[in-house]
Amino acid sequence: MKLVVIGAQWGDEGKGKIVDFLARDADTVVRFSGGANAGHTIVHGRNTYKLHLVPSGIVYEDKRVILGTGMVIDPEALEKELEELSTAGVVWAGRVLISDRAHLVLPRYKRMDKDLDTKRAQPIGTTGRGIGVTYSMKSARDGVRVIDAFDDALLAALSQEDRDFLLEHREFFREMMVDVNSYMTDHGDENVLLEGAQGTLLDLDLGTYPFVSSGSSSANGAAVGAGFGPRELDRVVGVCKAYSTRVGNGPFPTEFESERDGDLEHVIRELGHEYGVTTGRPRRCGYLDLVALRYACRSNSIDTLALTHLDIYDSFEEIQVCVGYKVDGRVTELFPASRTAAANAEPVLKALPGWKASSAQARAFSELPTGAQDYVRYIEEYTGVSVEIISVGSDREHTIVERDPWTPS
Ligand code: IMO
Ligand code: MG
Repeated sequence: MKLVVIGAQWGDEGKGKIVDFLARDADTVVRFSGGANAGHTIVHGRNTYKLHLVPSGIVYEDKRVILGTGMVIDPEALEKELEELSTAGVVWAGRVLISDRAHLVLPRYKRMDKDLDTKRAQPIGTTGRGIGVTYSMKSARDGVRVIDAFDDALLAALSQEDRDFLLEHREFFREMMVDVNSYMTDHGDENVLLEGAQGTLLDLDLGTYPFVSSGSSSANGAAVGAGFGPRELDRVVGVCKAYSTRVGNGPFPTEFESERDGDLEHVIRELGHEYGVTTGRPRRCGYLDLVALRYACRSNSIDTLALTHLDIYDSFEEIQVCVGYKVDGRVTELFPASRTAAANAEPVLKALPGWKASSAQARAFSELPTGAQDYVRYIEEYTGVSVEIISVGSDREHTIVERDPWTPS
């Protein structure tokens, strides 16, 4: 079976935790988009792992992980991350594979990324990891793929800087290279988890363009980004937080405003530890945006939602959610394509009762405080998609599974 897990908001939905949880039943985990711009946190007992490039299944000793075709891989960042995993006691040799068709991030791409963003009239606030430039080079057909690093004739045509860099790093990943297509043919019966990075609203095609990342971070990128055919995919799990966050610039209709919401942004940021794993930047915080979430459900064919950080609302008297936008005096329930409309959209908020009780001990939906159950039911009703996994804490055990996505329908 092949299961896709993607972010249904602006990234940082808690994908790392959900992928890690679901990876228990996977044989192979494939990351299908993005690069070192991602930051996926996994907590196992007393150990916390922060991953950027390596798929989240790595911490299980018996899983193989593949950095898929749709990724953009910075060899230096990969070496550093794998060294850190070794230091943390994770034995990864022989378990990390890299698609031979994935693109490589060269040092000058990172410089260009920072330079371009600084010069933009409206900076995107990129992570500076060379992501956009590498995808641009790929589209322009000037990129360097993993396999190309071993093509000496091709290297000879590159600049001295690029060539030296590739010659310095290529031995590190020589043994990791894999043709994903033949790997999948040889492992056809396996459970494969396709791990997304970023989120739907940062997707190049579906997101709040131009304030997006440059990969196909939606489920639509999963097949091509991993390296197999679209009919191979069985189910799509969308991960969303009980509220919203966004890092970097761009439209965020439900962002807390101090005049309307007091110090909610600060409260949520501290309760939810909403600081970037990759850049350390404080995340912008806001109400759950059901308009955006339903858009994500529809545009990704999401079968089931995994709701994270529900416990962050445990102490609240009342919780608001966004059920529409007011744009140019009109109310809409559709996510606007226009960047100006998205930037000016005012949220239509609906207040739901809080539960003022701890949800952290719940291990089944029925054990959640009634108000929390009602909150989840409201999300299902609005989006038309059932919430089947609920996370009530950072540890693996703080997870409620109403229906296991690996179970065939
Ligand atoms: P994970 O996988 C949140 C944001 C950046 C910036 C925009 C473009 O941890 O959810 P880029 O460097 O990709 O060109 O930056 O996208 N961004 C993310 N925000 N989570 C992520 O990944 C992100 N990856 C990129 O902040 O606004
Ligand atoms: Mg992150």
